Amino acid sequence: MKKYLLVSLLTIFAIAFLAACGTSDSTSGGGEEAAGDKKVLKMGTSADFPPFETIDEQTGEYVGFDIELTKYIADQLGYELEIDNMDFGGLISALQSERVDFVASGMSATNERKESVDFSIEYHKSGEMFVTLKDSDIKSFEDLNGKTLGVQLGTIQEEGAKKIQEDDLKDLKITPLNKAPELIQELKAGRIDAVYLDKTVALGFINELDLAGFDDPTESSPGMAIAFPKGSELVEEFNKVLEEMKENGELEKLEKEWIEE
Ligand code: ARG
Repeated sequence: MKKYLLVSLLTIFAIAFLAACGTSDSTSGGGEEAAGDKKVLKMGTSADFPPFETIDEQTGEYVGFDIELTKYIADQLGYELEIDNMDFGGLISALQSERVDFVASGMSATNERKESVDFSIEYHKSGEMFVTLKDSDIKSFEDLNGKTLGVQLGTIQEEGAKKIQEDDLKDLKITPLNKAPELIQELKAGRIDAVYLDKTVALGFINELDLAGFDDPTESSPGMAIAFPKGSELVEEFNKVLEEMKENGELEKLEKEWIEE
């Protein structure tokens, strides 16, 4: 009898607690309001980018390098994480309007973005690749001229493709889409000829879906970093933990687990 009472009391507390979280959260506008004794940090991401962030089809949970990385950091700093999944192209404005407290989304710390947001120290560096079907006649950069190249909206690859079109391949056609897997679908369906992607992500798709590809011989992009609204005090807190992770091997452990297969 007593046990049931305890259980139902606990349930009531849990519901009250969740309700409190809900209200504090909706009134805080993505701020750092207390929920219980842990503060909630709202993270923006575009969960379409394995192995950095994606949704596990079986469990429906967010998984990936960035997810583990930020969970670890939040844990060390005593924060609770809440993930807000959106299109990559909307992340910078979500930061600017402070709808999220930070963004971890395989985002490259470019000088252009540094004008509107602050970045942590870099945690990973890849490069770019062009992904094609295995039997494609596109084998090199020059072969792309006259072909249709898919890019994700708002990414440095979209910018990069425009630059390639301007400087080198005047007849390149560019198809921007919202989600990275859509690009791969379009490639498989033959509606675009190649996809321009982050190298780490590209290699994953190539291996998993039996595709082909080659490195971008043009520019190399800056490394990935966590982004914050300008002036956020979180930058320093996050950097401290990131430095620690570089020293104590935690970062390497994550790289081994998610990036080097
Ligand atoms: N690194 C590239 C950039 O910063 C692409 C990132 C795309 N991320 C994603 N989660 N879809 O523009």
